[in-house]
Amino acid sequence: MQEVSYYSKTFALWLTPDQIQKRVQELAEAINAAYWDKDVEIISILQGAFVFTADLIRQLDFHPRVHFIKASSYSGMQTTGTVQIDHIGHLNLEGKHVLICEDIIDTGRTLVEVLRVLRQANPATCEICSLLLKPDCLESLIDIKYCGFEIPPEFVVGYGLDFEGFGRNLPGIYRLKS
Ligand code: IMP
Ligand code: MG
Repeated sequence: MQEVSYYSKTFALWLTPDQIQKRVQELAEAINAAYWDKDVEIISILQGAFVFTADLIRQLDFHPRVHFIKASSYSGMQTTGTVQIDHIGHLNLEGKHVLICEDIIDTGRTLVEVLRVLRQANPATCEICSLLLKPDCLESLIDIKYCGFEIPPEFVVGYGLDFEGFGRNLPGIYRLKS
């Protein structure tokens, strides 16, 4: 599918399923090399990261525990500025190697808040793996150890990312055209 439309917005294919799968494999190889001998807790950030997480963890050849937390800040195509984080309270991360799995980093506000909360749990290390990054939108300095693709400041859907709930099931990533 070259284009998709939801409501009055049209999105054009930009990263093909093959390109994404190849990059996910490369990220998994780097993560395998870094974590094979460690106690790893993968923390996936719902909702958007569920597809990326599902593909990534099946390429890992060690035995991480996998958890999901929920962070919300976006409404439609805009970030609301305040970040709400849920389902984080019960995690025991003391002394563990935490790897955060995110779909996209835009302003970075979500990650700043997630990092702040996770670090209170005293993990041994806490690194970030994000499929996408919009470097031009970043508002604070965040060390992103594993990044799939750097993209321009445009709104994208597909591969877990949505517009008003639509587009998450697309195997490719599409960018807003009109
Ligand atoms: P941040 O807090 O501004 O970095 O925004 C991060 C969150 O906003 C991501 O986890 C996504 O859920 C959502 N988001 C940011 N950019 C996009 C986009 O282009 N398409 C869909 N969701 C996005
Ligand atoms: Mg997200």
